[in-house]
Amino acid sequence: MKHLKKINALLACVLFAVSAYAETVMISVETDNVSMVMGTDKSGELLFYHFGGRIADVSAFKGFRSYRRSDYGTDPMAYPAAGGRYFNEPALAVEYADGYGNTELKYVSHKVVRIDGNVARTEIVLEDRLTSLKVVLVYTSYSREDVITCHTEILNGGKKPVTLKSYYSSSLPVKADKYFLTHFYGAWAREMQVDQEMLTHGIKTIESKKGVRTTHTENPSFMLSLNADGFDENYGEVIAGALAWSGNFRISFQMDETDELNVLAGINPYASEYRLERGKAMVTPDMIYTYSFAGAGQATRNLHDWARRYGCYDSSVMCPALLNSWEGAYFDFNTKTLTDMIDDVKDMGLEMFVLDDGWFGNRYPRNDAKSGLGDWETNVSKLPEGIDYLVRYAHDRGVKFGIWIEPEMVNPKSELAARHPDWVVKSAGREIPQIRSQWLLDLSNPEVQDFVFGVFDRTMQMAPGIDYIKWDANRHVESFGSEHIDRQSHFFVEYVQGFYEVLRRIREKYPEVIVQACASGGGRVEYGALKYFNEVWTSDNTEALSRVFIQYGTNMIYPACVTGSHVSAVPNHQTANVTPLKFRFDVASAGRLGMELQPKDMTAEEREFARKAIASYKEYRDLVFYGDLYRIHSPYGKGDHYALMYVSKDKRRAVVFAYCLRYQGRALVPQFRLYGLDPDMRYSLKELNVDKSRFWGAGKVFDGTYLINQGINPQLMKVYDSAVYYLEAE
Ligand code: GLA
Repeated sequence: MKHLKKINALLACVLFAVSAYAETVMISVETDNVSMVMGTDKSGELLFYHFGGRIADVSAFKGFRSYRRSDYGTDPMAYPAAGGRYFNEPALAVEYADGYGNTELKYVSHKVVRIDGNVARTEIVLEDRLTSLKVVLVYTSYSREDVITCHTEILNGGKKPVTLKSYYSSSLPVKADKYFLTHFYGAWAREMQVDQEMLTHGIKTIESKKGVRTTHTENPSFMLSLNADGFDENYGEVIAGALAWSGNFRISFQMDETDELNVLAGINPYASEYRLERGKAMVTPDMIYTYSFAGAGQATRNLHDWARRYGCYDSSVMCPALLNSWEGAYFDFNTKTLTDMIDDVKDMGLEMFVLDDGWFGNRYPRNDAKSGLGDWETNVSKLPEGIDYLVRYAHDRGVKFGIWIEPEMVNPKSELAARHPDWVVKSAGREIPQIRSQWLLDLSNPEVQDFVFGVFDRTMQMAPGIDYIKWDANRHVESFGSEHIDRQSHFFVEYVQGFYEVLRRIREKYPEVIVQACASGGGRVEYGALKYFNEVWTSDNTEALSRVFIQYGTNMIYPACVTGSHVSAVPNHQTANVTPLKFRFDVASAGRLGMELQPKDMTAEEREFARKAIASYKEYRDLVFYGDLYRIHSPYGKGDHYALMYVSKDKRRAVVFAYCLRYQGRALVPQFRLYGLDPDMRYSLKELNVDKSRFWGAGKVFDGTYLINQGINPQLMKVYDSAVYYLEAE
């Protein structure tokens, strides 16, 4: 009898399972033009059918057969786990308490939560029946921007702890004939260089294992041109992706034997096994995807629209045009040096002065990079009047004031290092490597989080109304480890979680201050940091020719409104290159304009030019900040010219930047077609910041069709010739 009861119960279970899957569940995550379609198979696995042009009636997928031979593994899955019949790189790999590593996720339920008219969140619950491990796939769709973000929540519903060996944010299967990858590599002073390649079978990964300054070597973003032999701005289908995570990341592209591509993106599994106690969950960072039907240009514009509305901290605030003290004064200044600079800000029409490194430390004064980090009191011998005096001096003249901090760091030569050796990132018993004579503070430790928050807080309290903070981080992690945490393999993840906790507290208390993320230049250029920071310092390389390449790459993924870009002195301090002041202004004005030099060293003509260029920038900068970016000619392309334009959303105004990057004989005259204008409008065209124009059509009115289909042919034939054109509809 007892036996029979058991069998009945078992039968009921089976029946429930069968009835649950007898009916295929179809899930469509949709934007205005794009959809991701998933559905259950007979066994309850969630398959991934489609990412691309929107499919109106997804019931068409019912009964879908891929004809993939079963010995090639399963059909593409929405979130493949190690185990079962899946043998490509898994999105999730778990080791259970009994040592087994097999996970078989089955669909449980899903719901759609409408956030507002534009945004909806789809949550899909999957579960491994045997171990009760649950995974919630969270897709957020942004209709107008054609962006879908994905992350997961992994919950240990079992009775014993489990170890997550990999836990990616998303798995994206793609099916095309060819996959042409564009990604971004670099180094200090050479960030966001463009690398392009046709993907072949096997795995290609881009990643960082540096913990901090994670975007110097590779950026966690890419573009994928489908069914194409190369990259095209205006034509073809393109997927663009970017991960919002300020720590180690990995994005892998695996083309298997059926020519399907699977893209995994998320936290780098490197040295990061994560133990999940019973009842605990791991929330992975967001992977941001868009799909374009009009080339890479549209993919960029979708990401920028999303970023300005949802991805970056308050893009409605325009970061003021500024003078930064670093390259003009370095560590060598007193109050008078700085008040003179503030006067120069006013004189040239800039809007803010930023006091960079060197203002703090008394026992160990910060007179070079070797001492003082950690001791955040004003240096009384350099600045006896205090910071508040400088802030007042600036504000009295209508100039905003910003200041530099590097709160995650400590010089061994500092009072802080003596007080808190336990706060330093280190591996017990080993020497602590220095980079730029400094150590890293351990943000996985809540005491350190309090300290770092306190540095920001006290800096803000030094004077009422500090307008801007430049937050720097000049080293990465080496010899990783923490005295605070028990499980060393949690260090990399908990550092980033600690970093975000500090930033959350800062934003709660200081929602309005403008904060820049700098990490030796562009070491923190990603959407995880940008949730809290208004802008980034794009690169320590301020030289205009280098900046063309850095900004071209950066703005493929991140909008111009977040990319700090400064005019500096010549010969340039990083490259020794000498470029004309106009070229330097024209390059810097395509981002958030600033200057970083000693204005005293400028001639009267240079100052006059700067005044004019800054005044005209203020007239069109709303286009740079909020307009649609059209890349007209790539700096990597034939002809050695670079051109781009920003167009207002209503297409009534536009600004075009054009540059000659190399002399190559007088024979080649560029022809720039101004895609992005409205063919039905007529535009007046004027050239800015010149006495004599470089284009015969300056001052004339042109039909939109002429500018789009014929374009402009400015005379940019000598190295570093440059031009800025402003167009306005009649
Ligand atoms: C880093 C930054 C620079 C400057 C210096 C100051 O290198 O990227 O912009 O702030 O630190 O030490």
